[in-house]
Amino acid sequence: MPSPVGDDNTGIPKNPVGRTFLSGRRIFAEAGKSRPSAEFGLQNAPACRRQGLRSEKREENLKMERIKNYINGKWVDSKSGETFRSINPANKDEVIGIISKSGREDVDQAVRAARGAYDQWRLTPAPRRAEFLFRAAEILLRNKESLGRLETLEMGKILPEGLGDVQEAIDMGYYMAGEGRRLSGETVPSELPNKDMKSVRVPIGVFGLITPWNFPIAIPGWKVFPALICGNTVVFKPSSDTTVCAAKFVEALAEAGLPKGVLNLVHGPGGEVGEYLVSHPGVDAVSFTGSFDTGKRLETICGSIHRIIVTEMGGKNAIIVMDDANLDLAVEGAIWGGFGTTGQRCTAASRFVVHKKVYQKFNDLFKTAASRLRLGDGLQKGTDMGPVINESQFNKILKYIEIGKKEGAKLILGGKPYRKGNCSKGYYIEPTIFIEVSPEMRIAQEEIFGPVVSVIKAEGLEDAIRIVNHTPYGLSSAIYTQNVNSSAIAERDLETGIVYINASTIGAEIQLPFGGIKHSGYGRKEAGGQGGALDTYSRWKVIYRDFSGRLQKAQIDK
Ligand code: UN1
Repeated sequence: MPSPVGDDNTGIPKNPVGRTFLSGRRIFAEAGKSRPSAEFGLQNAPACRRQGLRSEKREENLKMERIKNYINGKWVDSKSGETFRSINPANKDEVIGIISKSGREDVDQAVRAARGAYDQWRLTPAPRRAEFLFRAAEILLRNKESLGRLETLEMGKILPEGLGDVQEAIDMGYYMAGEGRRLSGETVPSELPNKDMKSVRVPIGVFGLITPWNFPIAIPGWKVFPALICGNTVVFKPSSDTTVCAAKFVEALAEAGLPKGVLNLVHGPGGEVGEYLVSHPGVDAVSFTGSFDTGKRLETICGSIHRIIVTEMGGKNAIIVMDDANLDLAVEGAIWGGFGTTGQRCTAASRFVVHKKVYQKFNDLFKTAASRLRLGDGLQKGTDMGPVINESQFNKILKYIEIGKKEGAKLILGGKPYRKGNCSKGYYIEPTIFIEVSPEMRIAQEEIFGPVVSVIKAEGLEDAIRIVNHTPYGLSSAIYTQNVNSSAIAERDLETGIVYINASTIGAEIQLPFGGIKHSGYGRKEAGGQGGALDTYSRWKVIYRDFSGRLQKAQIDK
């Protein structure tokens, strides 16, 4: 079904989910693209990125990185010699890096390198593979401060969050290194004498990994570390918005002495480089984090060529606030979930489903708290919220604000770009709160991926859970309540991959599986060990060994 253009003339296709989802039968039409895409095409990139620098002088003043591909243990320019730019979303005139723009030949070369390294790597004992991961995690830890700052410069998140992002990769590095001495399977008794049997984890082969811009070091860590510990080799294609961070992450592994070809990095537009990588005959499996639209397209490609793919996509995460909640705590959680990382997490809370008895009070407290948030450059101490990532996201978020107004939601805070002082140079949007939102409205259904949230009134617990479940997404949800029974019912009935009790929707830890259901994800999970990333990045092989010296027939001989 073609997506109808909204009657609000915003040009953002309407998501008919509100009507179709309750029936539980129909597949939703394409949801508005909102998850940070592992950028498919530069057409969405900021104008200055496409046109080049406005002033050569400014270029001289900046510490700019020249970022190359990393193929077969060497930093190399792309075959075409073309480049693109990574800019600071807090100051669009500031170029953070000039990056080699790859094409198919570069991907071919990277896949060849990964294939070439595979046999030796898979046969390297896992505890030895782990040593590279330990060293890489040590290097990331040593460089945490500078990497955190780089994240703020390239992606805009405030420094404490940049540091947290790096920490998440470090945690994953150590955790997966520890798995090098486990990677355990089962040994179980055979029904026959003189026969034993076991299951062992084996690598899958060459992984194509595609990552988004919102966690520019953590998400590469989520994918690369488990892929490597399981014995796979990798071709990694990061979002074009955060290439410098990606290169620094790869540098840590290179410095850790990882053998050549085991990890390869190619930069370039997703539509060309990403899709080509995903469908490349030399690739065995794919892990993608990004928008639903792109993920779905890649799932289709992989489905048609019988290729494993794991996708982690968007969210329309909600926090339920019950009438018995600690309201101050709930408001703190709402601020953190709604406006942390400028609302640009797949786990961000974009809906607050509030019991009618505390609706007014919650709104007042929430508005007061949100109006105190300080916007600005994330490197400056005291800043609470940075810019959004780029021009296309900036415009899209503003369009959603217009949609909300036209739908009849009541805007009680924000709603405009923020241009005070130096913020005029970046992609800043005020923290924006809509109240009197009905669950069917597009702003309550579609992922906006910015600092725009909706507050919805609920009659009671059952109604609140119904509202939370009533979107195409199912990543994260939360409930604030003091009532143990309400929390147990929410835990049981919320249709999301992650449920928080008396905590916000963001902040998953790496030692448990991470991922959602419905439009939020497909296939196995990120993070975690058994039941999580290890299942994603390895497959089971089952071995039966008969040492009886005669033909024994299972199920038949006694
Ligand atoms: C994402 O936004 O894609 O739970 C990942 C969290 C973080 C990871 C978010 N640990 O919010």
